[in-house]
Amino acid sequence: MGWLEEGDHGADRDVPLAGLTWFGLGGRARWLAHPADPADLGRLLQQALASGIPVKILGGGANVLVRDDGFDGIVVRLDQGAFRRVVFDGERVHAGAGADLMPLVRDCCRRGLAGLEGLAGIPGTVGGALHMNAGGRFGDISRCVETVDVIDTDGQPRQLSPAEVGFAYRRTNLGGRTVTGTTLRLSRDHPNTVYARFREYWRIKKEAQPLADHSAGCVFTNPPGDSAGRLIDSAGLKGTRCGGARVSDRHANFIVADEGATATDVLRLIERIRQTVRRQHGTELELEIDVW
Ligand code: EPU
Repeated sequence: MGWLEEGDHGADRDVPLAGLTWFGLGGRARWLAHPADPADLGRLLQQALASGIPVKILGGGANVLVRDDGFDGIVVRLDQGAFRRVVFDGERVHAGAGADLMPLVRDCCRRGLAGLEGLAGIPGTVGGALHMNAGGRFGDISRCVETVDVIDTDGQPRQLSPAEVGFAYRRTNLGGRTVTGTTLRLSRDHPNTVYARFREYWRIKKEAQPLADHSAGCVFTNPPGDSAGRLIDSAGLKGTRCGGARVSDRHANFIVADEGATATDVLRLIERIRQTVRRQHGTELELEIDVW
């Protein structure tokens, strides 16, 4: 990869990724780049495409499990100023992909801008949230999206409508496109009312989920009409361990990484959960987290 030198696009060589993910597990990236702005990102993606080097975008690391042998390519973080900008404009909010979701959601609620409060307690960045249509029982991000800015798979910037993004339950059709920012359209309500809803949703989430442990949130998506947590729980798997990885006693769709856990432990536990649920319920669980 002769074209990429230390310092180009803010790149460093051979960087540990564990500290950048919520699981706190996994190996190193051959490169970790921090492009300055969308144009710089576009150049990096075009060069990587031309030379066949795989690229991953790392948001808040809230939904990613990095394998123990790491990622032999370029990991990109959109953590420079241009990607973190948030501009309030009446009922619209323009947010960079690298902006943290939680402060943004809280800020909208405090300003009396309603629509995002259902995302209370969901970690990660705006880009990550858009990519997987983050949300829960109280709504997902897609309901507020007016446009999404991406660098397309050919390295060119484009603006997409929600229909083009193809939002569905915990997924989109974005594929290899890289989200750089979005315009959200919210609605006016009384700040106290919106903020009260936000607090209530967050309370419910904290009560049901092991938010203080090392985990990546829900590991599996819910199968149509059912709940992965319920299926795993009723298969008797709460507390099951593989090495340092265990099924949370609080919410069975969470895998917690205890001291000494490895990514391989988590992957073994995922396989065991899948097999047991398949055998007992005849249901095939699909991963919500991204395994690199
Ligand atoms: N349940 C159990 N045992 C468990 C967990 C859940 O029996 O260990 C039962 C509950 O009693 C309830 C049903 O399963 O009857 C659903 O559980 P819950 O309300 O906790 O919601 P969920 O479907 O498991 C979804 C999202 C969460 C989101 C919550 C709340 C998915 C895969 N999960 O969980 O999102 O926080 O709703 O809005 O869509 C995430 O995506 O990372 C995530 C945590």
